[in-house]
Amino acid sequence: MLIAGNWKMNTDASSCVELARGVVQESENAGVVRVTVCPPNVFLSTVGTVLNGTRVSLGAQNMHALGSGAYTGEVSGEMLHSLGCRFVILGHSERRQHFGETDAEVNRKVKKAIKVKLVPIVCVGENLDQRRAGREREVVASQVKYALEGFTLSSSNALIIAYEPVWAIGTGETASPVQAQDMHALIRKLVRQQFGEKIASGLHILYGGSMTPTNAKDLLSEKDVDGGLIGGASLNADVFGQIIQAAKDVEQGSRTASTT
Ligand code: PGA
Repeated sequence: MLIAGNWKMNTDASSCVELARGVVQESENAGVVRVTVCPPNVFLSTVGTVLNGTRVSLGAQNMHALGSGAYTGEVSGEMLHSLGCRFVILGHSERRQHFGETDAEVNRKVKKAIKVKLVPIVCVGENLDQRRAGREREVVASQVKYALEGFTLSSSNALIIAYEPVWAIGTGETASPVQAQDMHALIRKLVRQQFGEKIASGLHILYGGSMTPTNAKDLLSEKDVDGGLIGGASLNADVFGQIIQAAKDVEQGSRTASTT
């Protein structure tokens, strides 16, 4: 189980330190649950220093598909890796929506991330109109297929997919556990077709979209939900800690069930 905090364009030079320290504290007893935070690029270094030697790993929210060059304002995968980042969120719906990121661009970034040994957290998800029209499976399948085109994977740990229905992001609306499970199972099936059973069964598929301490346990209990990508609720260490605890409870419950 992986619990990832997407801080988006939030915090400042001092509050990022305070939040990171809080998350470290909340993660001390996380057991087998892995925790990562993705601060804004300008604070990666500062937050990385706080996380150094702790159980919490560092992630970024985006990167360019190329390694270096005349791309004013951009940041490369190599740069993120050299700073100690382990993860990078790619293809978040806010990037697709506000910055015109296309499936082809997401695919280029995913390939580059894997090449420089970052683990991409690839975001997919339908918007409200698409769900109302009953097209959610078709939309997500197309995003997944595009994102995963043209490369092979040697380990299921080299890639993460996050199902984030756009209508649930920052809205307080959450997919029901049944809706989430349905889409996660579809994503795992597509990954199985592309990379085979071994990769598919070990792959982490995260749910994102208004996950809170109230709904986390039900969502994380679903068979194909292997963690959460959390925006709003990751900006308060105590609240984020409650989601980590929910993940731990689910892990412990399933381990007890499998040994009895
Ligand atoms: P939210 O954001 O938890 O605030 O809905 C999730 C995300 O966009 O990753």
